[in-house]
Amino acid sequence: MKKIAVFTSGGDSPGMNACVRAVVRTAIFKGLEVYGVFRGYEGMIEGDIKRMHSYSVSNIVQRGGTILKSARSKEFRTPEGRKKAYDNLMKHGIEGIVAIGGDGTFTGAKIFFEEFGIPTIGCPGTIDNDLYGTDYTIGFDTAVNTALEAIDKIRDTAAAHDRIFFIEVMGRDAGFIAVESGIGGGAEFVMVPETATDIEGVVKSLKNLRKTKSSSIIVVAEGDDAGNAEEVMQKVKSKIKDTSKEFKVTTLGHIQRGGNPTARDRVLASRCGMAAVEGLLKGEVNCMAGVMNQQVVYTPFGDCIGKTKPLIEDHLKLIEILSI
Ligand code: F6P
Repeated sequence: MKKIAVFTSGGDSPGMNACVRAVVRTAIFKGLEVYGVFRGYEGMIEGDIKRMHSYSVSNIVQRGGTILKSARSKEFRTPEGRKKAYDNLMKHGIEGIVAIGGDGTFTGAKIFFEEFGIPTIGCPGTIDNDLYGTDYTIGFDTAVNTALEAIDKIRDTAAAHDRIFFIEVMGRDAGFIAVESGIGGGAEFVMVPETATDIEGVVKSLKNLRKTKSSSIIVVAEGDDAGNAEEVMQKVKSKIKDTSKEFKVTTLGHIQRGGNPTARDRVLASRCGMAAVEGLLKGEVNCMAGVMNQQVVYTPFGDCIGKTKPLIEDHLKLIEILSI
């Protein structure tokens, strides 16, 4: 293998740049030519592919976002789109690709590999942490810390006014951000898509809590089965007769996707990027390079996207016990 390409795709996550840097520099270190594909699969279809050098990735290890840009491509879902993408890679003589992204990115990469056989490897880039085959995904730690900083600030004002705050964090299908920011932020409740939300139970506990606490923090993952934070708040509020308590909703939104990556995310990104290039050279294909129990592991794309990564049970217990 002499030439490889790297791209970022789907929702961006802090640390993607550190990962791109690791891929580019490891490839050059190993004597490979490396190309950057801009705007993910969309740019692959349009032929937006440029040679990368060591200096192309200077001064990016600390930056959020992705210098390669990111996109979600409808055309890549069609056989015609994928054929165009393949032809563009062939024009540059590219023999292997590194895809940095989440489950959507790997779903595309798996199909692409099965259709054209081009050696493909992934790095877990998503704030959601919802990929099987790695303990953490690149960007998760930063997103949790961003959410936590916001929760701390909201807690100050919640306490000052004796209010009940519903804080919505990202996580369309997974509650990892909600759980970790909830534990760190001392939330009274955390609502996640993985477990059924018991509104009656929350109302009951809130009534009890009010004997000892004047304010409460409830963290809601955007994909919770009971609805988003506004909907959950309305459901809870409608069951509480005492109108003296004020209920407020704050949606943290895309601030969770940006910002300088934490040290943990930079290290994880660098490890995964290097492991991806080394994996490609060793014949590890159609799989993701992740880190589990401190060790680099290669997990087939099929498992990464097909198996569910469960929440850590102790975490849910912690929230229940520590919120009394
Ligand atoms: O996949 C990561 C994620 O942050 C989800 O939690 C969220 O629902 C989604 O991206 C939103 O992404 P976008 O606004 O880019 O469509």
